[in-house]
Amino acid sequence: MIEKLDYTMQNVFQLVNLEKQVFGKDAWTIGNIQGEFRNKFSHFFAKVEDGQIVAYGCLRIMFEEAQICNIAVLESHRRQGLGTQIVQSLLQCAREEHCLFAELEVNTANTPAVELYKKCGFQVEGIRKNFYRKSRYPTNDAYTMICRLEEEQ
Ligand SMILES: CC(C)(COP(=O)(O)OP(=O)(O)OC[C@H]1O[C@@H](n2cnc3c(N)ncnc32)[C@H](O)[C@@H]1OP(=O)(O)O)[C@@H](O)C(=O)NCCC(=O)NCCS
Repeated sequence: MIEKLDYTMQNVFQLVNLEKQVFGKDAWTIGNIQGEFRNKFSHFFAKVEDGQIVAYGCLRIMFEEAQICNIAVLESHRRQGLGTQIVQSLLQCAREEHCLFAELEVNTANTPAVELYKKCGFQVEGIRKNFYRKSRYPTNDAYTMICRLEEEQ
């Protein structure tokens, strides 16, 4: 089950750890994570296993648009559907907040993430050249991807 995370220091420290393991030197800092929790338009969802966060995603609501800020799954837990479940939870939250579409940027060379987002209903809308200042991928270009949301009746 995917759960919504509250702003607690235990959750912050666990996310800092997970970020370091997944993104290395590009990880969100404790300040980034605390700032995001303090933003009343941001929502965190996670898979917690034996008290440990093993996957998480973050969503920011901006009027009719929901922005997926980040998603990460521990390497040991990949290809088990967790990424899909996290994205689905983020999209459900966006629907409940009456957003019309969800948007994200992803490195054009990040095939696992691009394929995950396509599977969850996102389409490539465009390419932003040199979107990233630095990147662990061979390119700094990003796809802009969009998923149109239909409100449930
Ligand atoms: C991208 C990421 C979140 C995927 O998480 P995951 O839990 O492995 O994803 P799922 O198991 O739900 O996979 C869903 C689909 O994504 C695609 N996918 C996932 N990993 C893939 C890989 N290594 N290569 C190709 N496609 C892949 C597949 O289509 C997969 O469906 P399938 O298993 O039926 O073939 C994970 O690889 C990750 O944390 N990567 C590092 C962080 C990152 O890049 N985040 C995105 C920043 S924008």
